Amino acid sequence: MNAPIGVIDSGVGGLTVVRELRKYLPDEPIVYIGDDARCPYGPRPAEEVLQFTMEMVESLAQMGVKMVVIACNTATAIALEEVQKRYDFPVIGVIQPGARAAVKASLTGEIAVLGTMGTVNSKAYDHAIQRLQPQATIYSLACPGFVPIVESGAYRSLQARMIVDQTLQSLQASSFDTVILGCTHYPLLQEHIEDHFLHNKQIISSAVETVVDIERILTEKHILSAAATEPIFYTTGSIEKFQSIVEDWLSIERPDVRTITF
Ligand code: DGL
Repeated sequence: MNAPIGVIDSGVGGLTVVRELRKYLPDEPIVYIGDDARCPYGPRPAEEVLQFTMEMVESLAQMGVKMVVIACNTATAIALEEVQKRYDFPVIGVIQPGARAAVKASLTGEIAVLGTMGTVNSKAYDHAIQRLQPQATIYSLACPGFVPIVESGAYRSLQARMIVDQTLQSLQASSFDTVILGCTHYPLLQEHIEDHFLHNKQIISSAVETVVDIERILTEKHILSAAATEPIFYTTGSIEKFQSIVEDWLSIERPDVRTITF
């Protein structure tokens, strides 16, 4: 079935999921919506995140997608169940796969979760991890400086490194062996995060595990695609900025980036 997979995020963060999707399921057509004009979602009230998420999913539904991936932890925490209730096609989020990967990776059961204010306050990771491993110890940290620096495109800069170092300092006294990048924007800062932890923590991004779930669902429903097409990206923000991040992160030359408004 050559209908596309719809992927949404508050901005460019979901591209970290798209990168893995293209690597492991290269024949799948993708249509992506990034709500960059209203990013970040992290500090917004839950009703607003729910409304924005619904707007994006409804647009994807009208475009005829065969499934939706909410490639945003904040939106997953707040809106996943509601979206699943309203649509007939499969809808998955990124928190369950991230929690599963972390529990698999951690030897000590002590896990740090980095996320937005919305994700941390929702305790969605705590619940997902504890369902899999009731004894787990979880240290959650909201990192409000991370999404704006990624959205600005300056994620490789010295300023980004300083923001990462300053933010993560508060985890210094805690003992954990695994760190969940509980926001899809954070893999763009992964080098800084790994350097900060002196490369002795397991860093988990939910992207790969999410693709495992996508493949399982498409296979079960017999709706895998057989013909690759270039992805189409929609943004509510600047086309040029979005394009340059897609070029850099996904190595796609002159990507098809279009405007969408809600
Ligand atoms: N990529 C979103 C997430 O995973 C970023 C949230 C935001 O916009 O603050 O939570």
